[in-house]
Amino acid sequence: MKNTFYITTPIYYPSGRFHIGTAYTTVLADSMKRYHKLKGKETYMLTGTDEHGQKIQEKAQEQGKTPKEYVDEMARLAKELWKKMDIQYDDFIQTTEERHEKIVQKIFDKFMEQGDIYKGEYEGWYCVPCETYFTQTQLVNGKCPDCGREVKLMKEEAYFFNMKKYADRLLEYYEKNPEFIKPEYRKTEMINNFIKPGLEDLCVTRTNFDWGIKVLKDPKHVIYVWVDALTNYLTALGYMSDDDTLFKKYWPADLQIVGKDIARFHLIYWPIFLMALDLPLPKTILVHNWIMMKDGKMSKSKGNVIYPETLIDRYGLDATKYYLLREVPANQDGIFSPEAFIERYNFDLCNDLSNLLNRTVSMVNKYFDGKVPEYVGTPNDVDKEIEEFTKNQISEFENKWNNYEIALSIQEIWNLVSRTNKYIDETMPWTLAKENQNQKLKSCIYHLIENLRRIAILIKPFMDQTAENILRQIGVDQEVLETWESLKEYTKLKNLTVISKGEPIFMRLNPEEEIEFLKESMRNN
Ligand code: MSP
Repeated sequence: MKNTFYITTPIYYPSGRFHIGTAYTTVLADSMKRYHKLKGKETYMLTGTDEHGQKIQEKAQEQGKTPKEYVDEMARLAKELWKKMDIQYDDFIQTTEERHEKIVQKIFDKFMEQGDIYKGEYEGWYCVPCETYFTQTQLVNGKCPDCGREVKLMKEEAYFFNMKKYADRLLEYYEKNPEFIKPEYRKTEMINNFIKPGLEDLCVTRTNFDWGIKVLKDPKHVIYVWVDALTNYLTALGYMSDDDTLFKKYWPADLQIVGKDIARFHLIYWPIFLMALDLPLPKTILVHNWIMMKDGKMSKSKGNVIYPETLIDRYGLDATKYYLLREVPANQDGIFSPEAFIERYNFDLCNDLSNLLNRTVSMVNKYFDGKVPEYVGTPNDVDKEIEEFTKNQISEFENKWNNYEIALSIQEIWNLVSRTNKYIDETMPWTLAKENQNQKLKSCIYHLIENLRRIAILIKPFMDQTAENILRQIGVDQEVLETWESLKEYTKLKNLTVISKGEPIFMRLNPEEEIEFLKESMRNN
């Protein structure tokens, strides 16, 4: 079995500061990468910036910069944020890099030579901010169906990609590869909304601006930004270049993550381009929903924008990632609200997780002088049950995570946290100590430590610092006890000493103050 895992995020438009919604895709990709790395795969994660197009040319002009100066500055800001968020990407591609531009030209040439691209004339309604043409029927009240802004009627000589030719092959591929699109309802949307009504050929060049990659054989045309952008997933690996080692090693991608707004480009055009290049398709394209605010999309004009830095600086990186991943379900958008954020912090992280750790560490100190007892079997009635329950929760977590139901899979971990807290109340270790029921007491403490160890491993992909902190406090310092593989172990802990005074990993927040802080920050953004 292939032991590599290639994962990509969309490459971002360099249009300003990233809010928590835009950061979501990358947080998700990073967590997936860490998960597969923990499971022993050789992982490679790609991200970057999508730097061509009219919109960028205009933005740079507004700021009195050359487009290249503008995009380089934006790429720098993106890298700064990813550093703050501890995103472990392996490569950051900018589409204005030579390694990308040269290959895009080669790819375009190849399409022309094969007859997939032909010359024609295009007339349509063009939305400048979205860089997309629409037909009359696609317009909503005469405006752009995506962003609602004004569109212009434009006509130009242009090249077209023959999408129609590939429509049947694409449908057949969808049918034969149920893993290709996740969640499955996105596939149905593509078929019903775009493929069944008849795929239109795609206009793949522009002549009304020049901030783009030129068609080698006809340089008054620049290559449509989506043809340019999508191929980054190949060019970053050195496809068609002098050194294609990475490409040979990692292609096809194992997981490509995209937000719902760019599903059509990734689920229709992208696989068709790959078919035309005679390349295998990615194993899975995961389409995620959005993070919204109570009053809709985040926007400066509404005064409802929240930036990742605000959350990280005040509540920490792990709490921020926990909220983002926990709050976006696979079947609908997630909502950010200050109230819900603080509630999750206080309940899930502080009351549930942090308290479980604190109670356990203090009992090991109180009853066993800090030394964790060894496994003594299951003398309490509920010991067997908690062992079974934990085993089940781990497989529930894995099933859901592997099926990309991330929010639900994290909920499974928190079910385990709650169940383990309840186990303390059921076994009543303080009574066992009073009654000198030593075996039972040892068993209870052992099970608590073992569950904390497993919870720490389960949260590692998205709450790395917290996981490390838990393991340190319960005295786990052997690598073999920190691996994914070791989740299967339940009886092997020996010679562990917990720290002498537990340190709370999350401290209860004052809800009124913090909600006000977040609201204020949204108003000021
Ligand atoms: N440049 C294109 C992608 C080209 S990929 C070959 C693009 N860039 S983007 O900057 O506009 O968006 C980047 C990612 O952020 C997309 O996956 C988009 O769906 C995601 N999000 C933007 N706002 C979001 C939320 N509010 N919530 C979750 N994801 C969001 O599209």
